[in-house]
Amino acid sequence: MTDATASSSGSSSVPSPIAPPADGELAGRHLLLGVTGGVAAFKACELARELQRRGATVQVAMTDAATKFIGTATFQALTGRPVYTDAWDGRIDNGMPHIDLSRGADAILVAPATADFMAKVAHGLADDLLSTLVLARDCPLLVAPAMNRQMWSAAATQRNVATLRADGVAVLGPGAGEQACGETGDGRMLEAQQLVEETIAFFAPKQLAGRRVLVTAGPTFEPIDPVRGITNLSSGKMGYAIARACRHAGAEVVLVSGPTALDAPLGVRRVDVRSAREMLAAVQAELAGQDLFVAVAAVADWRVANASTRKLKKTEGGGPPALEFAQNPDILASVASMPGGPYCVGFAAETEDLEANAQDKRRRKGVPLLVGNIGQATFGRDDNELLLIDAQGTTTLPRASKTRLAAALVGEIARRLPQARC
Ligand code: CTP
Repeated sequence: MTDATASSSGSSSVPSPIAPPADGELAGRHLLLGVTGGVAAFKACELARELQRRGATVQVAMTDAATKFIGTATFQALTGRPVYTDAWDGRIDNGMPHIDLSRGADAILVAPATADFMAKVAHGLADDLLSTLVLARDCPLLVAPAMNRQMWSAAATQRNVATLRADGVAVLGPGAGEQACGETGDGRMLEAQQLVEETIAFFAPKQLAGRRVLVTAGPTFEPIDPVRGITNLSSGKMGYAIARACRHAGAEVVLVSGPTALDAPLGVRRVDVRSAREMLAAVQAELAGQDLFVAVAAVADWRVANASTRKLKKTEGGGPPALEFAQNPDILASVASMPGGPYCVGFAAETEDLEANAQDKRRRKGVPLLVGNIGQATFGRDDNELLLIDAQGTTTLPRASKTRLAAALVGEIARRLPQARC
């Protein structure tokens, strides 16, 4: 037992330093974070914080080797809970920390998980608190491997990883890149944010398991000349949130995106485009085998027909340039009219008469489900309120973060999606 552990009060009533947000994506989840002895243990500090920021409660248990890298006091301060390292810890009333600590946990997440620790778990060994907790668990186990590339590729490690997977353990990563030892290759622990994302995905209901989904998002940019263009205020947040939620629900997701400042969601393949015509070409190239098409992009209806290949210059007394416009193709309508095409969901940007206009738009575009943004000025905001319009009528998804709404919307879409691809 380390000094910090020994000197802690033994009570779990220390207030958590991070007030867990009630609407966080991990709200109500109790996680046991196991930390084993690898240099990546430092990333587990940020992980503990980020899990709590998403609403989870985090109880840390460490191996002795882990305490050589990070002290228990750090995790105790970050989580506001005593940290356990010892199977004989007297602070648990019935003297059974190896059982008690994981009871009530929704999952055990071991990050970093060393080669040695994974070998132990694969073989059912239980010779310290954390390995005993893992063997005695009645909840899912997630491990985030972290090791040198040779250790990762060693036949024994790969056998152990295969055994863990076969036993239903979720193996998160590892990533590839520069390693603490100076070598480069597979075996790096995923970053804290990636592990949080994978943990959220782990808990999401797999309503789109085995499905393939194509999403458009963001604005389009229609050039006037090489340095100017026409675009709109779409931030891409809603489309990105939907792509992410589809992936969390188990789908393979391609995101065709106009210019945005956003990072592609983890595990989603992004295809970058600029103009509406580029977006149409990318959608057509990705369409084969898709089960679902969700058109969230704010596509410009018009492009400049006489765009200049040279920068337009002001001329003395010349006046403004005379721009001519041509209508852009309707991407959603063209996909919806394809025989044997995917189930199509559109979005409607309306400033008035949302329900009537959206119902009319749904019929005109030939899509089974159209989603309207309730209220104006949703562009760039982090929250939204949605009206779902299908042939049966309307359903409202009340105001919430775009993240929460996207997950709810994916549930609504999954309920309507034909069992076989239409
Ligand atoms: N859409 C599309 N291609 C276009 C225009 C729109 O795929 N050229 C899609 C959008 O991604 C959205 C839906 O159609 O899913 C409705 O977009 P919206 O801008 O509301 O409708 P418009 O068809 O542009 O009609 P209007 O601007 O006249 O309301």
